[in-house]
Amino acid sequence: MYVSDLHNHWVPKNNATRSGKIGSQATIDKIKKLGIQELFIDTEKGLDCPEGLPADEQKQVQAQQLDSLQVQSDVGGVGKRVSVIEEHDRASRRYLAARNVLDGVLNDVKNHQSIDVVAVEASSEALLESLESNENALACLSHIRSKDSYLLEHSVNVGILLGIFGRSLRLEDSILKELVIGGILHDIGKILVPDAILHKPGKLESNEWEEMKRHVTYGEKILDVTAGLSDLSRSICRLHHERLDGTGYPHGLKESEINRFGRMAAICDVYDAITADRVYHEGMAPDMALRKLIEWSIFHLDKNLVYDFIRCLSAYPVGSLVQLSRNRAGVIIQANRRSPRHPVVRIFYSSTNRLQVEPVVVDLADKGCTYDLVGTLDARQLGIDIKPFL
Ligand SMILES: [Fe+2]
Repeated sequence: MYVSDLHNHWVPKNNATRSGKIGSQATIDKIKKLGIQELFIDTEKGLDCPEGLPADEQKQVQAQQLDSLQVQSDVGGVGKRVSVIEEHDRASRRYLAARNVLDGVLNDVKNHQSIDVVAVEASSEALLESLESNENALACLSHIRSKDSYLLEHSVNVGILLGIFGRSLRLEDSILKELVIGGILHDIGKILVPDAILHKPGKLESNEWEEMKRHVTYGEKILDVTAGLSDLSRSICRLHHERLDGTGYPHGLKESEINRFGRMAAICDVYDAITADRVYHEGMAPDMALRKLIEWSIFHLDKNLVYDFIRCLSAYPVGSLVQLSRNRAGVIIQANRRSPRHPVVRIFYSSTNRLQVEPVVVDLADKGCTYDLVGTLDARQLGIDIKPFL
């Protein structure tokens, strides 16, 4: 058979080629060893598999699943005390402050100094306050990223996502704070991975990949000797690469050994990693990333929590480029959990003449709104930069 997608995008820099014709049993063994239990094949380039579901049928099933995942009753933490536009400046300042705090923490680790947990705590509280005012503001900011500060932005984003996710599950304030702290610090061990490996643009050799995976153990050791951290925050670091079927790392833990917060962290970590633009690959659109989470929930991620996560971000999450009726397109700046097809959109593009238009914000849930959501678009494919409009 011809493998067209190895189904392992959650491994950001693995050393495996993702497509090609299978030439030997050894290759199959290798794929199995990677923990891959299902993959995509191209039936035009190789043999078919009668038991497999065709990709377009699978896409349809996923689209139906996504559309059916709206929340029926009010869930926790909708967070719209002020409009997303009003919250933007404050959220920006707090996002930047959290990034700077983490930058300081990473420098401290490099210089063998102890971590300023109080500063991380204060940042987490500040982020949670912004989430309470309007969580969409930070969600927008988490999609504006620069390729060269991945570690800082990814870490803060995982903290924000855990905050948004935890709020939707109505977790207690003290737990939310520990979750966000854990998110900000989850990849702290990466600072001890040699730069040549951490920033290598191409494929990693197997010894390099082994070193890369050690970032979790390094992180665990750093956090173990850090006073003032909760077990919950530590467990976010320890568990974020473990997978329910035991194929994760570094411990290869079993389902029963991975707590709920570790499972939540795995979902937030994967979602942010695959939506990010990196030096060596372009990020996935948010709705595509949600579909990937559904696929991976069969073996790797906690299915119920994946569905909760999608309900929480909505099937049309913040940061999605969407096609509207009347030939207009725009980016979602506020999701709608109750009615995913009715988000707040900043329109800036005319799809008829492929030109930018004067930006305007519309709430599709407004009774007088004359636009309908037609579907999602791939900003990268169309060559559109959505960042200025977030
Ligand atoms: Fe990690």
